[in-house]
Amino acid sequence: MGVPLKVGVIGVGKISEQYFDSFPKLPGLELVAVADIDAARTAQVAGEQGVEALTVDELLADPAIDAIVNLTIPAAHVEVGIRALTAGKHVFAEKPLGLTPAEALPMLELAEEKGLRVGSAPDTVLGTGIQTARQVLDSGLIGEPVAAQVHWSAPGHERWHPSPLFYYQPGGGPLFDMAPYYLTSLVTLLGPIARVSGVSTRSRRERSVETGPLAGTPIPVDIDTHVSALLVHESGVTSTMTVSFEVWATRSPLFEVYGTKGTLAVPDPNRFSDDVEVSTSENPEFTAVPVSAGYADAGRGYGLADMARAIETDRPHRASGRLAFHVLEAMDAIVRSSAENRVVELTSTVEKPEPVPNGATPDTW
Ligand SMILES: NC(=O)c1ccc[n+]([C@@H]2O[C@H](COP(=O)([O-])OP(=O)(O)OC[C@H]3O[C@@H](n4cnc5c(N)ncnc54)[C@H](O)[C@@H]3O)[C@@H](O)[C@H]2O)c1
Repeated sequence: MGVPLKVGVIGVGKISEQYFDSFPKLPGLELVAVADIDAARTAQVAGEQGVEALTVDELLADPAIDAIVNLTIPAAHVEVGIRALTAGKHVFAEKPLGLTPAEALPMLELAEEKGLRVGSAPDTVLGTGIQTARQVLDSGLIGEPVAAQVHWSAPGHERWHPSPLFYYQPGGGPLFDMAPYYLTSLVTLLGPIARVSGVSTRSRRERSVETGPLAGTPIPVDIDTHVSALLVHESGVTSTMTVSFEVWATRSPLFEVYGTKGTLAVPDPNRFSDDVEVSTSENPEFTAVPVSAGYADAGRGYGLADMARAIETDRPHRASGRLAFHVLEAMDAIVRSSAENRVVELTSTVEKPEPVPNGATPDTW
């Protein structure tokens, strides 16, 4: 196992395109093969990328592959991850880490037992947007953080995704699909979460696929589609979060942190590099601050490159399985809190990952 890390991608659906765009920018990674349960799709993508088309079994058995990128649907994340670790390969997976903490924990334990890494999306938090927000917060520009607020909403992913059924099954919904970006950012900015309470609901709106070859197919809705949560961080800072597939329009701000001296407008954590804006008691008008941290021009896959470099230099990687586990536990706790009408304490904790210095690349860090 050396440099570059030889990578095989399992699951070459919609999001894989963004990973394939990033790989050529990342000298620490070399894409060597792809696999998917859809053989025709595997062959097409392999042809486009100029790499081998394998079955999942063949890819896992290939001794030339050091790490797999697991871009399957949420219900397959842990099963595929455990198979890859058992085959001696590092794993970097799309979010969520799994469907429940109980499902995901054995995967992390297996990796630790075998001395292998598990990394997880979202790696958007390593871009200049969230990293600059963190640098501003850590600099004290808005004083001591007191609270944060998140509101993400949309009418539903069926409007743009060609195969959106998984978004309405366990592992999907606005909570498991979108909250990983916000919760990972909240932990990056404000530290781990101690306890949560949640409420959730769903409308009776009939949904169907709106685009692509499956257009018109009805979508069974097996999860709540509007979720609100109160979070208490270990530091005592509180966050409120609403994520929803039920909102046609809103004027709510996306993401703000309130401090004793001002407000930090945090950019979209599902993107890498939008502007950070600050309003302070002395300068109330929201003003964009210069980029001061984060991987520039980043895209999906940078978390894996960061992990490859961490393997090479024997350091912790930032987009870690343990961070994703804490976020998964928070989401699971919000679901349980809502169902059981009580505050739920988290059992896991995690350290804030190392900041990404200004001007760093995953290959030089
Ligand atoms: N689409 C997006 O914009 C987006 C953005 C960020 C993250 N994600 C995440 O990426 C993951 C994949 O999403 P997507 O939109 O690409 O879905 P998709 O349905 O377009 O693609 C998933 C692919 O995985 C394959 N697959 C499913 N189970 C498999 C298995 N057991 N073994 C091998 N292949 C398998 C499917 O055949 C399909 O080609 C999800 O976890 C999602 O949350 C998606």
